[in-house]
Amino acid sequence: MSEFIEVIGGSPLSGTVTVGGAKNGALPMLMASILTAEQIQYDNVPNLEDINLTVHLLEQFGARVEYVPGTLKVSVPELVATEASYSLVKALRASFWVLGPLLARGGAARVALPGGDIIGARPVDMHVAALSQMGADIKVKHGVVYATAPDGLRPARIQLRSPSVGATHQVIMAAALTRGITTIEGAAREPEVVALADLINSMGGHVEGAGTSSITIFGKESLGGAHVRVLGDRIEAGTYLLAAAATRGSVKAQGINPAHLGGFLDVLADMGLSVECGDDYVSVASRGTLKAVSVSTAPFPGLATDLQAPLMATLSLAEGTSRIEENIFEGRFGHASELCRMGAKIEVSERTAIIHGVERLTGAPVEAFDIRAAAALVIGGVAAEGVTHIFEPQHIRRGYEYLEAKFSKLGAHLCCRVADAEDFSFAGC
Ligand code: EPZ
Repeated sequence: MSEFIEVIGGSPLSGTVTVGGAKNGALPMLMASILTAEQIQYDNVPNLEDINLTVHLLEQFGARVEYVPGTLKVSVPELVATEASYSLVKALRASFWVLGPLLARGGAARVALPGGDIIGARPVDMHVAALSQMGADIKVKHGVVYATAPDGLRPARIQLRSPSVGATHQVIMAAALTRGITTIEGAAREPEVVALADLINSMGGHVEGAGTSSITIFGKESLGGAHVRVLGDRIEAGTYLLAAAATRGSVKAQGINPAHLGGFLDVLADMGLSVECGDDYVSVASRGTLKAVSVSTAPFPGLATDLQAPLMATLSLAEGTSRIEENIFEGRFGHASELCRMGAKIEVSERTAIIHGVERLTGAPVEAFDIRAAAALVIGGVAAEGVTHIFEPQHIRRGYEYLEAKFSKLGAHLCCRVADAEDFSFAGC
């Protein structure tokens, strides 16, 4: 028996959706719990599979975790292990980011190499090089990174080859608990990096410059507890705004800082949508025709790669020919062929996709390959005529909380079903 999401498309979305806490913000913040013996309380934690995996990972290191919906209290009074196994890193690539905090607190770490995945090769060379520069002795054997720093890490001047979000998180966490001044040049500027730095500062650490390419970390001998709120999920917000555009509807996504959407807001305006921003919301309303655009993904504040797949779904219904260049992950076009099964006309060549807008999509059975590809197919499904079945919906559970309920509140018809060999029956979600 396998689950799938059934979408009955064709109705314009309208209304207000409250986005949850950002998955990609919460993950590094939760991992920073390793840096202190004291408790950190996290509010606005999204209810997602990736969060459950992170909690499981932290528990292996000795974390005590209390959970009530929306809030996690985490403390690691004693580090009882320093190993992140292949099964966990394979299930959640970001698990690799515990390497730095484990080294900084425990002087040793054994973490499986994440390897490539469906969206690209995703090497971790910058993580390894930065921690080596900080004095870690790192060996890679049989797909596992063995790192030791028995006398502690030392501060360093790190120059990143490109603004890797994960490598920036990794160094901030390691350096926060390494006495002396560490600098990162070429750092990622994403809002999730700023959120991590804010957390470290509220733990008694000292990080300056987060949100710019030059970050300075004044490392401390110890860090304390904190009480923080996870930032709103800009990618979830963008997904609902694109769904509104694709269905010629109007949606307000609240619970985010509009500045966190960066260049994506300009793309919405270029598509001919009416866009309005408030302190904690963005709303879009269709003006009828959706215009084709030419865009490239880029590190923040450019157009986020995580919105590329949802954007492609919407552009497949625009008037004219759009062009998307994917500059972050070389293999992140798996959704194009599935959208074509729904009637989209998309040609992919290396890092470029050419999208010839069509008048309508039609429902079809499709398969999700990653979180954002799944979101693209949901957008395709709500905009399409007829019924779409999205298989492998576990990708959705990793990144979009209460997806069916949130879309349904906006007037879409979505439900989760279970397929057995012969027929379909409701799974009751
Ligand atoms: C984070 O991944 C996000 N993941 C991704 O979100 C997001 O797509 C990505 O940043 C870019 O914004 C989380 O926050 C959990 P990178 P990360 O290191 O940190 C190359 C989603 O859908 N690179 O910024 O792994 C890398 O191959 C996801 O929620 C190296 O070459 O991304 C890529 O081409 C998936 N060597 C580029 O840099 C390294 O050592 C950017 O990757 C590290 C990265």
